[in-house]
Amino acid sequence: KASPRVRKITASLIQHLHDFARENEITVDEWMAGLELMNEAGRMSDNKRNEGQLVCDIFGLESLVDEITYKLASDAQDEPTATAILGPFWRKDAPKRNMGDTIVFNIESNDWTLMHGQVTDYKTGKPIEGAELDVWHTAPNGLYEQQDPDQPDMNLRGRFTTGKDGKYNFYCLRPTSYPIPYDGPAGKILRALDRHPMRPAHIHFIITAPGYKPIVTQIFDRRDKYIENDAVFAVKDSLIVDFKPYQGDPKADFELPYDFKLATY
Ligand code: DHB
Ligand code: FE
Repeated sequence: KASPRVRKITASLIQHLHDFARENEITVDEWMAGLELMNEAGRMSDNKRNEGQLVCDIFGLESLVDEITYKLASDAQDEPTATAILGPFWRKDAPKRNMGDTIVFNIESNDWTLMHGQVTDYKTGKPIEGAELDVWHTAPNGLYEQQDPDQPDMNLRGRFTTGKDGKYNFYCLRPTSYPIPYDGPAGKILRALDRHPMRPAHIHFIITAPGYKPIVTQIFDRRDKYIENDAVFAVKDSLIVDFKPYQGDPKADFELPYDFKLATY
């Protein structure tokens, strides 16, 4: 039995699609070209690629839905950390690591970063014990580990759990801007629109804690030239961060302090 909600939004989707075809007098040839893109995206949508998601994301749909869902977590102070889209490259069951560990393996870089901060209750400011940070980012070649046979499995991914003080710290890299996969339907659409495929350098997080609403988010490097021109429209002001040159730690070229603020249900 279809739920009332499913009935309602499906009817609305159909209505908008029909209006779209009518308003633009879509021809059979144009429809076939669109179908071909959809079918190709379907064929390419394995868990390393998620092409269907990529196509929706360059239309800004995932970012719009994120905004609609999390009106509250906006750019204001005194609010929970803002959310951002999940994107196609999260993997479940990233390895659990200990505080102070690295998520970087087999990579030469001058951009080693010590990221650290605290997970707190946004209302009381109290530290949250047992919060899990699930983190992932791309290698300097612009590839996530599952896209790149030269990276070890689960490279640049990890899960960290806070202790009593709510604090966390781990080593990662200062990421680079990189193109979303550009050799399939999403790339074809971007080219047809004279759009670039670049995303500003970012690090992904899912923050969960018992009793708190999970936060899916990304943080963005202020210095990145694509910060105002993200191919998938995910940047929010409060998620822009400053990497600081760091001395006094032979393992880190930069430090990145960042606190996460969660809301209870
Ligand atoms: C998308 C999101 C990402 O975080 C990314 O690295 C690539 C693509 C996306 O939303 O399509
Ligand atoms: Fe990403």
